[in-house]
Formats: sequence, C-alpha cells, structure tokens
Amino acid sequence: MTLVLEPTILVIFGSMGDLTWRKLAPALYNLLLSHQLPERFAVIGLDLKDASADNFDLRLRDGANNFCECGGVDDKMWEKISTKLSYIAGDFSDPTTYAALNEQLKVYEKKWNGRTNHIFYLATPPDIVETIVKGLGTADLAHDKRYARIVVEKPFGHDLASAIALNAMLTTVFDETQIYRIDHYLGKETVQNILALRFANALFEPIWNRRYIDHVQITVAEQVGVEHRGAYYEHAGALRDMIQNHLMQILTLIAMEPMVSFDANEIRNKKVDVLRAIRLISKEQVQEVAVRGQYGTGSMENKKVPAYRSEPSVEKDSATETFAAIKLFVDNWRWQDVPFYLRTGKRLKTKASEVAIQFRPVPHQSFPKSATLTWQPNILIIQIQPEEGIRLSFQAKQPGSTLHLSPVDMHFSYQEAFKSKSPEAYETLLADVMSGDATLFMRADQVEASWSVLMPILNVWEKSKPAGFPNYGSGTWGPKAAEALIEKDGRNWLQPIPSEDQGKKLISELNRINE
Ligand code: BG6
Repeated sequence: MTLVLEPTILVIFGSMGDLTWRKLAPALYNLLLSHQLPERFAVIGLDLKDASADNFDLRLRDGANNFCECGGVDDKMWEKISTKLSYIAGDFSDPTTYAALNEQLKVYEKKWNGRTNHIFYLATPPDIVETIVKGLGTADLAHDKRYARIVVEKPFGHDLASAIALNAMLTTVFDETQIYRIDHYLGKETVQNILALRFANALFEPIWNRRYIDHVQITVAEQVGVEHRGAYYEHAGALRDMIQNHLMQILTLIAMEPMVSFDANEIRNKKVDVLRAIRLISKEQVQEVAVRGQYGTGSMENKKVPAYRSEPSVEKDSATETFAAIKLFVDNWRWQDVPFYLRTGKRLKTKASEVAIQFRPVPHQSFPKSATLTWQPNILIIQIQPEEGIRLSFQAKQPGSTLHLSPVDMHFSYQEAFKSKSPEAYETLLADVMSGDATLFMRADQVEASWSVLMPILNVWEKSKPAGFPNYGSGTWGPKAAEALIEKDGRNWLQPIPSEDQGKKLISELNRINE
C-alpha cells in the first residue's frame, strides 16, 4: 500500500550551506526517484546570501549530482524539483524575513486550496537555532501542532545544562510532538534492523541477556580526520560528537526491552529506560572507565596525513579528544554486570561501524584439548557500515580424520539478500518527518538522559588536561590505554575485518592449525 503524503512545504534555513548541499539535496532527489515526495510539494530556501531561486536550484542540483549514489542527476527528473523551489534572502534575526516566509507559505496554500504541512528544517549552526525558533514563534508560524514541524540537527547542547536549556527554549515555541531531533545513525537501515533482528525472530531474545552474553562492544571507527570542521570540533571532541548521540543510540537499541507496539513513544520509552539504567560513574572512576586520545601524524592508505593539531582551525596545543573509549554497565535484570565497551575515533585504521555481542563460553568443554586449540566463543557481529550485514561465528568440525574445531562464520549481507542499495539515512529521515513519524528521532528526555551518563567524564576531562597528546598515530586503532581498558577485564577489542579479508582470515586460521 502506498502512503499518500499530505501537501508539504519544506522550509530550509541555511539552504545554501554545507548540510543542505551534501545531505538534503541528494536525499530530496532520491525521494523524487523513489516516488516518496508528496504530489503537492515545495521547497523554500532561506539564507543570508543574496541569491535567487536559480542560484538555490544550481546549488541543490550540484549537491544532488555530487553526493547522490544514483550516478548523476537526470535533467528531466531535476526539472520536477526545479519547479518546486523558491528562495528568500534574509537575516534570521529580522522579523521581515519571517513575514516574507509567511507570505510565500500562503501563496502555496492558496494555490493548493487548503492547509499544508510546514516543515522547518534548521540546517544551520547551533548558535542561530534560538533566533530562528523565536522568529518562527513571533511570526505565529509554530503554534499549529497538526501542521507545523521543526527539524533540529545535533549538537543538542554542549552538556546537560545547555541541553536542558535548549529543550526548554524549543518547547516554549513548539510542542514536543512537533520537534524532530535528528541523529542520522537512526536513519541507517542497519541500525533500524537491530529491532528486526531482536524482535522479529524468536531465536535471539531468549539468549539476549546476562546468562548468555559475556559483553558487548560498539565500535564506530572513521578513517577521515576532522576535515574542514576544526572550529566546531575543537569545542566538541569525540565524546560529545559521537558517543553522546550515535553510540548511545545504538546501545539503547541493543539493550532495550521488547516494545509492545511500533508506536513512536513506546519505542522511545523503552530506549530511555536503558539510558536511565546506566550505572552512574563517579568522578573517581572516570580514570578506570574512560580513555581519550588524539591523533598524531601517520599514514592512511600509504599517504602521510597531518596530526590533529596541524589541521585547519585547530589550536597547536589542543586538548580535544579525537578518540574516546568508555565502559558502561546497564543496571537491570537483563544486563547486570555485563560490560558495554564503546569506542570511536577519527583517523583509525579502518572505516567500520559495528556491534559485537560476545557470548559466554560453553559451560563445560567436552572435546579433547587438542581439538579446541582455536576455540572461540560465539560472536554475533552487527555490521552497520560500510559492510552491511550480520555475522554469526560458531565452531565447526574441520573436515578430516583428526578432530579439530574451527571458528566459522554465517553471514547475511544486505546487498546479496536484497540486491539493492540501502537508502541514505537522510532520505529515510526526511520521508519520516513528512509522514509525521517520530520513531527515529530523539525525544528531549533521551537527549538529557544521555548527557547525564557522560557528564562525570566530561567534567573530569575538562578539569584535567590530557598528558601526552597526541597519543595515537593516524592509521592505528587508537591509544594503548584503550587496549588496556578492555584487557584489564581479560577481554580484547574485536577489530572489524573487511569482508574480502574474512576468507583470508579463515584460511590462515586453518593453515595455522594444520602446521
Ligand atoms: C557526525 C559527526 O554526526 O557523524 C562527524 O559530527 C562524523 O564527526 C559523522 O564524521 C559520521 O557519520 P557517518 O554516517 O559517516 O558514520
């Protein structure tokens, strides 16, 4: 059944900016290609730049062309978007900008003869959010709970206090049901599939608990450095930029209780329960459970790359972390004393995001010792990106007259199974805002609960400047201390292995046993 979308006007604040160009433009084009734009649809771009609808059109088209995985924009198809665009140049603190916006919205409503959804997308730096929200409020563009929605990008505050203040400010103008806080990880197919894996199969849920699971690892490793975002990143760092949002959201999906229905609030309630159950870290414990790092020079794919401190807009003695690893516990019946290890970093060896669930060993090893030299516990790996799939490793008898057990993999690959590329996260999220589905967006209480967990670490790190930065070379797996964090518990990080190397790994394993 195709969902018939209501008439919608997408209003983009910051329409000539980077986010619109890189993410929104290709998402819009893909939605057009997959027939997911409403019949009655328009985009109003707003920006400071003294530009015209034509410049806006060119900018969007360029973004779609560069970043859409569709192999380039087709002239005829783009024409369908071009006819829907208008542009308003204006200062976001000037009431006349909102008056002009109001006029333009009315033009469409008159043309379409009825009410339309107004989606206000703030593709702007965070420091202008309050001005825009208040501008919309004063112009009376926000009050209609049924038709007005606002999309806010991260960062949602800089710490708990500023997140509470931001949420309070937003809710003086918009109702919580109108607010869509984007965490683009939630738009990734592989992240959404965590719920399907856990709750659409009878197989996993009975063993998804402390009786069978030894620990969980969540890794989001990037090869890129800070790129052109030094000015923002200097005040963020890996804990705020990645762990507070993306990794914590993944953790909630792994740890939450089964939902009763697919209602947005039901799912978000279950997720927030997890965040509230995370054991509080005292300031004395921070040293034990959290590690920070900053990349130095090194080589990425045979190319020398600069240290973080030599990147543009970065202080020469910067104390900002580009790597963070933490250990958390979820204090409830399901997860008591099962560690969750989270790590993320820039300029790491491989680009890979994955969740590894390591199961406990068998209660009694009945095979002869000689047969179990390469024995490994069962591991379920949820590959989020760039590999998209799920691997389950288990033991098998190696063919031959001598009894040898070897770890082998069962692998599900999205591409092989579904023969199509997953939609981009922004495509899914934009479609959801248009249909009014808030499931994949963060509620105020989730954001605040996540900050609460991390505040002790942020406070301690703020007060004690790191010694020895940079402490890991670009192209490595991060600082030595991150290894120690997990090794002192008798465990190891499971390094993501690109699929083409999985076969090689198995062969070398078998060769080793046969030697
Ligand atoms: C963003 C962070 O939220 O996520 C960036 O601000 C990071 O620093 C990016 O590079 C990673 O997203 P993805 O989808 O490429 O894993």
